[in-house]
Amino acid sequence: MNSPIWMPYTQMKDAPAPLMVRSGRGAVLELEDGRQLLDCISSWWVTLHGHAQPEIAAAIAVQAGQLEQVIAAGFTHQPAEELARRLTAMLPFFPSVFYSDNGSTAVEVALKMAYQYWRNQGAAGRRRFLSLEGAYHGDTLGAMSLSGRSLFTAPFAELLLPVDFVPFPQTWLGDEGVEEREGQSLEHLEGLLRRNGEEYAAMIVEPLVQGAAGMRMCRPAFLRQVSELLRQHGVLLIGDEVFTGFGRTGEFFACQKAGIQPDILCLAKGLSGGFLPLAATLCSEEVYQAFCSDDPRHTLYHGHSYTANPLGCAAALASLELLEKEPHRFGEMEGWHLEELGRLADHSHLSRLRVCGTIAALEVKGTAGYLHELGPRLRQRFLERGFLLRPLGGVIYLVPPYCLERAQLAAAYRCIGEVVSAAVSS
Ligand SMILES: Cc1ncc(COP(=O)(O)O)c(C=O)c1O
Repeated sequence: MNSPIWMPYTQMKDAPAPLMVRSGRGAVLELEDGRQLLDCISSWWVTLHGHAQPEIAAAIAVQAGQLEQVIAAGFTHQPAEELARRLTAMLPFFPSVFYSDNGSTAVEVALKMAYQYWRNQGAAGRRRFLSLEGAYHGDTLGAMSLSGRSLFTAPFAELLLPVDFVPFPQTWLGDEGVEEREGQSLEHLEGLLRRNGEEYAAMIVEPLVQGAAGMRMCRPAFLRQVSELLRQHGVLLIGDEVFTGFGRTGEFFACQKAGIQPDILCLAKGLSGGFLPLAATLCSEEVYQAFCSDDPRHTLYHGHSYTANPLGCAAALASLELLEKEPHRFGEMEGWHLEELGRLADHSHLSRLRVCGTIAALEVKGTAGYLHELGPRLRQRFLERGFLLRPLGGVIYLVPPYCLERAQLAAAYRCIGEVVSAAVSS
């Protein structure tokens, strides 16, 4: 098939033809040729309850028959109001909700909020940001600046904002060296804050799990210490829950699970249940108040055409309803993962098994790096066996929709064990 579509994250020169998807139902995608794939990665981590989930589809249809879109400056509507109220009730530290339309824009807004928060108070010297090595916060220039320096950011190095990176103390099941790594990381952060504390506007973290870095996990205690150091030095904390929000880590939000309270919080992906592009940046009363002023220069001049789109908000409300009705769906998956990982614990080619709520990952030994040739080979073999899994280099991860059944998860793990054995020995 000759397609004019330039695909994301794809070297088009030798890209295999994309698979044509006809429909989705629950955790299963059906291709045009009739093949079925079990979606073990929630289609880039967005699908929460399953594909074509009927209640969300119906809520969007009803909303589309009433109001599909309206300018968001000076106007509002019931779904946007209700969603904002629901979010602030779930996250009482954040009384203010700024809508946008994808994860990168949620981060972009957070970055601008943090920078202008200081500027509005006369502290224009706070131009630098802090982030964790390996982080991924999106592909727009600001969000990319906050992301770890990598193959993705290299072509744009000269355009990026000034950011200092702190080592990420990754951990896994049975890991014994994490305390030392945490100590080194905290020492590094403290050194930066002591030397340049007054230059930083904010630090951004993906709480508990760094997604694109390869589902790298850290301990709640580390994040609490980071948060405390930032508080001592008066630097804002941005929580990027674009991926980890809405049950992914086993609780509604990773910040709650970690016991931290950022000043600004980014939400997207699962916010609409995975149906429509919708994002929100929430902030504390203190941050919000720094923008309320008689001086027009203190205004946050930021907005997008589809800000607070009514269809997205209606989808999000239906999704929240489902999450609140059935929290066991995301609450019990960690136990399932642990049972399955236990069966692979002695696999001779797998290491660094880890889990956080609905998210699990394992690494093929000796395969560091996003470009490791094993990744595409494994992906192809998984597809041939009916599983949508998309390894990040040699890291195989599962981020299933919450409707996935126990037996489907077991089948996915069996497939992983067998495919890795075959691929590594071939
Ligand atoms: C933690 C995090 N932040 C931001 C983003 C960017 O979101 P989007 O792809 O919707 O722009 C992602 C995407 O994977 C993410 O994982």
